[in-house]
Amino acid sequence: MQSRMTRAVSAVALALLASCGEQLPETSMDGIYTAQQSERGEAVFETLCQRCHSVQEFTGRSFDAIWAGVPAAALYARIANTMPLDQPGSLSVVQSTNLMAHILEENGMPAGDRPLEGDMDWLMTITLARPNE
Ligand code: HEC
Repeated sequence: MQSRMTRAVSAVALALLASCGEQLPETSMDGIYTAQQSERGEAVFETLCQRCHSVQEFTGRSFDAIWAGVPAAALYARIANTMPLDQPGSLSVVQSTNLMAHILEENGMPAGDRPLEGDMDWLMTITLARPNE
């Protein structure tokens, strides 16, 4: 039979252990792409998107109006499945994640060590959020 004290101490130890583990990203502010991805994405954007868009359309208040609070999967799917408008579905996973990294970077969301992946289950767990102005 454990004493109340022992149980309390075990609970604290467990909580500490949990917080030592790798933190899973929760929002796009948690470093969900690499600097290299956004750099490559910028080049892809210039080649495939710039004839119809400027990146400003996808940043700041314009970003908030559509994407703030939405799962990252939605932005990924919008790009990967519907763009370029005249050639939907033509982008590779790598092009799509690089493009998305570029858009996140332009919004002031920090880069991290973990590359952005085109994994819808993973992207569903991450909420799009911008730095506070
Ligand atoms: C031929 C013109 C054209 C090209 C090229 C194009 N788009 Fe679009 N895009 C549009 C139009 C028009 C809309 C808005 C209309 C709609 O909802 O379909 C749009 C909407 C979007 C949206 C959703 C709206 C928003 O503000 O978030 C995203 C994201 C997007 N485009 C990203 C891209 C990316 C990334 C590329 C490059 C791979 C690209 N587009 C290439 C025409 C284009």
